[in-house]
Amino acid sequence: MLFKQQALLRQKLFVLGSLAIGSLLYLVARVGSLDRLQPLCPIENRLGPRGRADFPARALQFKRGLLHEFRKGNATKDQIRLHNLVQQLPQAIIIGVRKGGTRALLEMLNLHPAVVKASQEIHFFDNDENYARGIEWYRRKMPFSHPHQITIEKSPAYFITEEVPERIYKMNSSIKLLIIVREPTTRAISDYTQVLEGKERKNKTYYKFEKLAIDPNTCEVNTKYKAVRTSVYTKHLERWLKYFPIEQFHMVDGDRLITEPLPELQLVEKFLNLPPRISRYNLYFNATRGFYCLRFNIVFNKCLAGSKGRIHPEVDPSVITKLRKFFHPFNQKFYQITGRKLNWP
Ligand SMILES: *[C@@H]1O[C@H](CO)[C@@H](O)[C@H](O)[C@H]1NC(C)=O
Ligand SMILES: *[C@@H]1O[C@H](CO)[C@@H](O)[C@H](O)[C@H]1NC(C)=O
Ligand SMILES: *[C@@H]1O[C@H](CO)[C@@H](O)[C@H](O)[C@H]1NC(C)=O
Ligand SMILES: *[C@@H]1O[C@H](CO)[C@@H](O)[C@H](O)[C@H]1NC(C)=O
Repeated sequence: MLFKQQALLRQKLFVLGSLAIGSLLYLVARVGSLDRLQPLCPIENRLGPRGRADFPARALQFKRGLLHEFRKGNATKDQIRLHNLVQQLPQAIIIGVRKGGTRALLEMLNLHPAVVKASQEIHFFDNDENYARGIEWYRRKMPFSHPHQITIEKSPAYFITEEVPERIYKMNSSIKLLIIVREPTTRAISDYTQVLEGKERKNKTYYKFEKLAIDPNTCEVNTKYKAVRTSVYTKHLERWLKYFPIEQFHMVDGDRLITEPLPELQLVEKFLNLPPRISRYNLYFNATRGFYCLRFNIVFNKCLAGSKGRIHPEVDPSVITKLRKFFHPFNQKFYQITGRKLNWP
């Protein structure tokens, strides 16, 4: 009887856990399409009390529409000069990690009136073809902003791509770098799940996670599998440290960003030397979705997650144990280097 209850409880916990992870995945998948809602959410409108006091309401209304058009990149030179708008190279980049919550982090930072986000992943530094187009091409991909604002872009492939640290260093050796990480085994499974979905859509065959993550000959973790390699954060970080001192990096705990976004965002504000502007008001929990929604102002809000997210495949517990054991020493090293201890198993 007792055993039955326990089993039931465990089952419930598992379902809850899956929902939470699913929500995050859904969020990451969904939020890209939400950019279409942008017209209601111009930067002017979020400039805070000072910005607001500068414009009468009607002018604000006018600018709101105008900035949206600017974002489409077809503003005339006069209009740009008139409003003193610029396309700035990013002063901070979210360099990874894939499936760590990079989209959520970017959207949440965008709540800050002094932050302007590049909506698309630009893939300038990791894609040779794009990189060959030159830095002015990159700048023209950036959104319009006021000079006192900072521009942030995110491309999670940067973190794991060999050439990227040197290329970013050549652009700005004092740039600030944000890395959002999740517990490595969870991240690897999430990575697999996303690839799997793509394959399912194209009706391609695929292997089970266990088969990819474990080398059948040695029965050990397959270190050649990309989803495993990406989760060995310390190896990648060490490559970056050949170019940038550790002070130029900030680690965001992606697991905590889901459950308690505000303190994580406040740490980022501090790292970016921004005045604290993101508040409880900007983040409200939506119980139906099981995730935080963003409130930019009285009329504009944006929910990042839904409860109908991707469900992770059930992974053999012995494989999970093996992976956790494998990641453990790398995690310790990662804590040591970054000075941030996370509670990973
Ligand atoms: C940009 O193009 C859109 C249509 O594509 C047009 O409605 C808008 O007025 C243009 N904006 C500017 C600032 O020229
Ligand atoms: C480089 O990045 C730092 C840190 O964000 C910023 O203060 C500085 O203005 C940037 N330099 C250039 C040339 O963009
Ligand atoms: C996908 O594969 C199944 C089974 O082989 C087949 O019946 C189906 O027609 C395929 N669908 C597409 C869209 O290729
Ligand atoms: C909360 O989530 C539900 C379900 O997705 C949605 O219908 C509702 O509009 C959301 N409420 C708020 C206040 O965002």
